[in-house]
Amino acid sequence: MQPPTSDPADDVGSFYDRNAGAFERVYGSVIQAYRTRDVTRLLDRQIASIGLRAGMRVLDAGCGVCGPAIHFARRVDLRVEALTISGVQAARAREAVAAAGLAERIRVHHADYQRLDTLFAPASFDAVYFLESFGHSRDQPALLRQVAQVLKPGGVLFVKDIFLRLSDDPARAEAMAREVRRINEAYRYRIPSLEATIAALRGLGFHLTRLGPVDIPLEDFENLTISNEFQELTGIARIHDWGSYVFPVEFFDLQCRKPWFGDEQDAHMSYVQRLVKAGRADELA
Ligand SMILES: C[S@@+](CC[C@H](N)C(=O)[O-])C[C@H]1O[C@@H](n2cnc3c(N)ncnc32)[C@H](O)[C@@H]1O
Repeated sequence: MQPPTSDPADDVGSFYDRNAGAFERVYGSVIQAYRTRDVTRLLDRQIASIGLRAGMRVLDAGCGVCGPAIHFARRVDLRVEALTISGVQAARAREAVAAAGLAERIRVHHADYQRLDTLFAPASFDAVYFLESFGHSRDQPALLRQVAQVLKPGGVLFVKDIFLRLSDDPARAEAMAREVRRINEAYRYRIPSLEATIAALRGLGFHLTRLGPVDIPLEDFENLTISNEFQELTGIARIHDWGSYVFPVEFFDLQCRKPWFGDEQDAHMSYVQRLVKAGRADELA
């Protein structure tokens, strides 16, 4: 029996500590349910979707065992600060990073992404990305404020995650809400609302640059069988009655940028006008 914990982050950490072996057996080193059959194709796409470029310093918020960070750093000359709340994953990630010869470029932290202000200086990252990890946050608006603080002006925030599906049919909405409760409880998740996430980001001045379905070639789509396999193996959130099951979430890629300008500068102009005036229109490409 695990001792009860009062901090939800500890609960997430012990969930991954307990299940690290099962995750690795089923998912390998990339713990993402929405994926391509050959997972390197997903990761190659994510390099483009996030906008990773040589010379960037990036934050992998919820890095798992660093499968993605290692792939990205092999393909692109990056420096990565990688955070996981699981001590077991952090140890596995460090081993994998060392085995890949990337210890100089990827630093693994066993730390809470809710406390970025205690870990990193303000305006110190070119990009922050969450790959199926944002929804573990116990306070998503506060997390986005932390991200805004550590990003450089013009820096990219990328979130790939599940978001609540909506329905104006009350019976359907209730069936989905039931499944959401099951997933949240089983995976220590708080499946985010897309609308609330965007509202929080825009409130912080973030400039939405891309939003849509996860960008992968659908002929390579793995079809979500891996998450069923994991559920069958572990019993976690296993679906017992497919007849009454309603798929309760949608996967999205969301990319946005921290604003270059404070609200007071050229307040009479739109953000895009200000970008053009500042010679930063290429950011819109
Ligand atoms: C589904 S896994 C995704 C792992 C990784 N992004 C990947 O693609 O393989 C979710 C990750 O988020 C991490 N995580 C959850 N809450 C966290 C927190 N408060 N601080 C840091 N990491 C956290 C977990 O430890 C886990 O590594």
